[in-house]
Amino acid sequence: MKIKIATKNAKETENLGVKLGKLLKKGDIVLLSGNLGTGKTVLTKGIAKGMGILDYVTSPTFMIVNEHMGNTPLYHFDVYRIEDYTELYDIGYEEYFYGNGVCVIEWPEKIKPLIPKEYLYVHIDSGSTDDERVIEIAPCGKKYEDILKEMK
Ligand SMILES: Nc1ncnc2c1ncn2[C@@H]1O[C@H](COP(=O)(O)OP(=O)(O)OP(=O)(O)O)[C@@H](O)[C@H]1O
Ligand SMILES: [Mg+2]
Repeated sequence: MKIKIATKNAKETENLGVKLGKLLKKGDIVLLSGNLGTGKTVLTKGIAKGMGILDYVTSPTFMIVNEHMGNTPLYHFDVYRIEDYTELYDIGYEEYFYGNGVCVIEWPEKIKPLIPKEYLYVHIDSGSTDDERVIEIAPCGKKYEDILKEMK
């Protein structure tokens, strides 16, 4: 089971994030894959909005994780710049992954050995025009299948 959605501009991708953010709960993991500049952070901004987080600002990219506080906190990881997955040990990644918030992880392929058993996988591809994107969402695990059903 998976769905594919095309968006025509950044706003549409952000709105998809809002829709997803409304369905996410404490402990959920969202993996965001896709090339540089495809819109992973745009989607995350929408997720934050959907979760009711009002103060989302795009944060410095040299941070591995940015915490956004809300009823349920959002932990936004961007691990593009790490050399090795073991760098995540230094920031105590388990407290985030198995904690009380939602984790969104850009560039999950960099930390493969640390990825939890179940997650929502989102892949963003470029489309046929500059501003078009094709977004594929695939669940791994029952609770993520339920989220996907709600998104349809
Ligand atoms: N349909 C679209 N969806 C999302 N972003 C779009 C779309 N069309 C154009 N854009 C633009 O593409 C850029 C996406 O940037 P963003 O920082 O979200 O990418 P990213 O995938 O997080 O990149 P990185 O891997 O460098 O973190 C933005 O400038 C955004 O305005
Ligand atoms: Mg990004």
